[in-house]
Amino acid sequence: MERTFIILKPDAVQRQLVGELVARFERHGLKIVAMKFMQVSIDLAREHYAVHQARPFFNDLIAYITSGPVAAMVLEGPAAIQIVRNMVGATNPAEAAPGSIRGDYGMQIGRNLVHASDGPETAQTEVALWFNDSELVSYERDLERWILE
Ligand code: RTP
Ligand code: MG
Repeated sequence: MERTFIILKPDAVQRQLVGELVARFERHGLKIVAMKFMQVSIDLAREHYAVHQARPFFNDLIAYITSGPVAAMVLEGPAAIQIVRNMVGATNPAEAAPGSIRGDYGMQIGRNLVHASDGPETAQTEVALWFNDSELVSYERDLERWILE
């Protein structure tokens, strides 16, 4: 079973799309194992996006992700990382496929609504950066056998 880390960014919150976007993940069959609504600190933003530190858009990216509250969550399922990346779509909404979140709701790269882990290592690092072990909840879904064989 795989876990991936997702942020519904400040534009998703301001546009009141939190419920709509969470519903997409739920409908797909992904299991929510952690979720919180929070204001991201500059320090957390810099650590989360450390890989982009040298990029020209880094300061704008930090300003964007700290510009208002976000909803952060951990989703679980077989191949959850790839499934969620596919659902989120290309980084630039202008290039994202219709049907993907960025392809359906986004206009520009600097307002692309969602973050999702891009691989197993980043998923593990990001889950640990944003959540304590006690915030990750283990539970059974009663309809599990109708989603996973
Ligand atoms: P994310 O990390 O947010 O899930 O997005 P991603 O993997 O699809 O894209 P990534 O390359 O990791 O970029 C992180 C975020 O930085 C902003 N960005 N701006 N102006 C630009 O050229 C540019 N490039 C990237 C986007 O908000 C992107 O989601
Ligand atoms: Mg990324």
